[in-house]
Amino acid sequence: MTTGAPATEGAPWVDPAAVAALFDPVVVVAQAHVGELAFSELPAPARDRMTGFTVPLRRRTYTAGRLAAARATAAVTGLPQWLGADEHGIPAWPVGTWGSLSHTNEIALCVTSVAPDTGLGVDIEPLDSAGELHAAVRYVCTPAERERVAASARPAEAVLRVFCAKEALYKALPARDQRGLSMRSVELDWSEPAAPYAPSTLVAVTGPAPGAEARCAVIGTHMVAAVTLPSTGLSRGRPHPGASGQSGARGGKLADAQRADPQPA
Ligand SMILES: CC(C)(COP(=O)(O)OP(=O)(O)OC[C@H]1O[C@@H](n2cnc3c(N)ncnc32)[C@H](O)[C@@H]1OP(=O)(O)O)[C@@H](O)C(=O)NCCC(=O)NCCS
Repeated sequence: MTTGAPATEGAPWVDPAAVAALFDPVVVVAQAHVGELAFSELPAPARDRMTGFTVPLRRRTYTAGRLAAARATAAVTGLPQWLGADEHGIPAWPVGTWGSLSHTNEIALCVTSVAPDTGLGVDIEPLDSAGELHAAVRYVCTPAERERVAASARPAEAVLRVFCAKEALYKALPARDQRGLSMRSVELDWSEPAAPYAPSTLVAVTGPAPGAEARCAVIGTHMVAAVTLPSTGLSRGRPHPGASGQSGARGGKLADAQRADPQPA
């Protein structure tokens, strides 16, 4: 099921049906364009969360995320919900629903589901961020992943896929399992896609959710990763091998990766 405003002419647009197809349970996919709604038009409780953030772009992406979530929750519950969040920024979904949010500087994407107790994670990255991520491969990838990237016919694309998958996996985890994780806390395994930007599934071989799958696909000009985690089988509240400090701070996706692991091997 998909919902959201019609594409604004000239603005990036992600095919919602293609996003929904990456998830196992039936999900509602909604999106919003950054700038479509002004920050000042958000309801006061949603605005209040952002009092500490004065960077205009951050307010605009936050607002677009809230708008996408309002559309998604309206489709699920019948009423648009302006999501709150906990002190770590984890969105508070309406009772009985689960979801995930991601945004670029131009678009916000939200997925929600009523599948019982299901962790959902979505991440969207512009394809043109691949070069920057490749330059930061030491922050994104474990040594074994770096070897696989180096052997790949398209290394920048491989790093983009790994980064996107790890962001989606992180969001799908319960909060207690996120603690202490960094990009290199999880190692992924994957088969080299036969064609450039072909769909690919990456499998977690270490970390809090071994066996978890991240499905990645190029949709328009973006890489999108989707993770669905049933609550059963997840570790609860124990430290993870390779954990290295608190993540989840703000300031850009690459900055997050570097903050989480400042001295990679
Ligand atoms: C939290 C994190 C995933 C956010 O991702 P991002 O690349 O900065 O930004 P995105 O646009 O993709 O997603 C941001 C949205 O995710 C949601 N979010 C933030 N923290 C979250 C968390 N801990 N769990 C789930 N969702 C979260 C929020 O809705 C946020 O948007 P908002 O603040 O405007 O509401 C990222 O900062 C991070 O910490 N990554 C580490 C990943 C990692 O270590 N992976 C390896 C182990 S699995």
